[in-house]
Amino acid sequence: MAVIPVELAGRSYDVHVGRGLLSDAATLAKDFLRKSIVPVVADANAWADHGATLMAALAAAEREVALYQVPSGEDSKSWQSLQTLTDWLLTQGVERGDHVFALGGGVVGDLTGFACAILKRGCGFVQIPTTLLAQVDSSVGGKTAINTAAGKNLVGAFHQPSLVLADTATLDTLPDREMRAGFAEVLKYGILGDAEFFAWLEANGGAVLGRNEYALEHAVTASVAAKARIVAEDERETSGVRALLNLGHTFGHALEAETGFSDRLLHGEGVALGMVLAARYSARRGELPVEDAERVTRVIAASGLPSELSSIGLKTDGAGLVQHMLHDKKMDAGTLPFLLLRGIGAAYLAKDVDLQDVAAFLDEQLVLH
Ligand code: GLY
Repeated sequence: MAVIPVELAGRSYDVHVGRGLLSDAATLAKDFLRKSIVPVVADANAWADHGATLMAALAAAEREVALYQVPSGEDSKSWQSLQTLTDWLLTQGVERGDHVFALGGGVVGDLTGFACAILKRGCGFVQIPTTLLAQVDSSVGGKTAINTAAGKNLVGAFHQPSLVLADTATLDTLPDREMRAGFAEVLKYGILGDAEFFAWLEANGGAVLGRNEYALEHAVTASVAAKARIVAEDERETSGVRALLNLGHTFGHALEAETGFSDRLLHGEGVALGMVLAARYSARRGELPVEDAERVTRVIAASGLPSELSSIGLKTDGAGLVQHMLHDKKMDAGTLPFLLLRGIGAAYLAKDVDLQDVAAFLDEQLVLH
């Protein structure tokens, strides 16, 4: 088992990564179990798979669960769900000094985290992520949000958890497609800042996706450690350091918007293809060796993730995709900063990107096979 500290003045916390640690939840989270009843907000599928383990762990410490189940899926990140959940937490008598446990993927973590950010002006919460994407990204770093009619994650708060328990055994029941989508975010840490980790993933990606215990634990631990370093440096994404975590997300967001944020393209799949596009666009600008862009493309294709824009059946052109980018929440006074690459492990924030040039590049990619 690994323990990765997220160092934030006055709000530091640990991320535990390991197989089977859900069974030790009561011991690991003992500082956050003030009362005999523990409020648990759980994704319905995650509860079906892991609820019994969590309940048994808490029962051993003489704690009972007060359970609130959230339907699986992005629709649960709504104003309505937030209202119902916060009302429920109030009826449970949750106080500022209490901790709410969130069991599930990014939807449950984001919704519960935001509810805890506003409940009585802020109570504690513990993240127990059960998807690869949530373990390596959304459960760490304190971004919480819901979706509104205007777009995804546009209403939220920075609210750090007090503890994250990432049990890699919970990934045993994760569908392969979601495993691959989460793996895109793992690859992201290598591509953006760690060439050695990228090379390790090139060699061991199959073992990670095959849920080899040691490979998976290493991949999750290295990813969380990378995120912890970045968040410690730039918690609120003001200096440009945390923005590096958006590698692949500007292109990816446009692709997700074009496919209606639906199962046609999962978030991680959009990020994977977005990273290929960011790498190829960097090469087109002469900033990244073409062979590095090919390495990025190859590892993404080998992971079973989409790597060619022409393969996802879009009925639009480059200008249509750029239109979606104009609604990106990273738009800043009329310009859109792009995460580009100078090398594998060397991402940087480019503020001089001409969106017409991006549209022309995307037109080229749309016909490439
Ligand atoms: N998922 C990007 C971030 O946490 O900043």
